[in-house]
Amino acid sequence: MLDKERIPKHVAIIMDGNGRWAKKRGQIRVKGHNEGMKALREIVKHSDILGVKYLTVYAFSTENWKRPVEEVTGIFKLLVKYVASELDELNKNNVQVHIIGDWSKVPEDAQESIKKAINTTANNTGLVFNIAINYGGRAEIIRACNNLIAEGIENITEEKFAEALYTANCPDPDLIIRTGGEYRLSNFLTWQSAYSELVVVDTYWPDFTPAEYEKAIEIFQGRNRRFGGL
Ligand code: IPE
Ligand code: IPE
Ligand code: MG
Repeated sequence: MLDKERIPKHVAIIMDGNGRWAKKRGQIRVKGHNEGMKALREIVKHSDILGVKYLTVYAFSTENWKRPVEEVTGIFKLLVKYVASELDELNKNNVQVHIIGDWSKVPEDAQESIKKAINTTANNTGLVFNIAINYGGRAEIIRACNNLIAEGIENITEEKFAEALYTANCPDPDLIIRTGGEYRLSNFLTWQSAYSELVVVDTYWPDFTPAEYEKAIEIFQGRNRRFGGL
């Protein structure tokens, strides 16, 4: 049974398996991304219901540019569609949208949608919803180093370093869920995941439901987090 008193504060999700979901059905990969967007809608809503305070989702990695141009274009078109269809609801639910990653490199119309989503929800006080777009953990670390050098910092501490990351002001993820069955992080939250609990499920992302989400949190609740202690 899910313990409502011990809901992880920050859940991060590697939304993987869209392509395989589509392939299994003889459909093009972008169809899988489209269905994945619907799954995301439900998971955001359910995060709020459960009392998760921070939700971070991996939407596009710094390595995903290696994919065929039609797929990359399709993914960013879906981002525009997602914002158009979901922004009102997100805003009504008091969700704050943040983007982690270098979104200055994404197509112009997607940048416009991102700006709109950030600005519309900037004063909201509910769920912090971080969408990782053109995000890579290594790129994030190098960017933080360069920013700190540019500021002329002389003594770097873990705290100051964490504040130079995209996730400044967010606690580290308690739980990282990966759908699609692969046991790897694929450059996601490299610094922040040091003590995260990992739960991998075989379900492809478009099939991931709130019930499965609760099951993953139950697994998390059964773990003994020691942080190096006893
Ligand atoms: C994850 O699904 C979404 C993105 C990387 C944008 P994939 O597209 O990686 O799906 P699979 O892993 O090929 O099934
Ligand atoms: C990770 O999935 C990135 C996202 C879910 C956005 P990938 O499908 O890109 O990861 P690999 O290639 O299997 O490691
Ligand atoms: Mg994949």
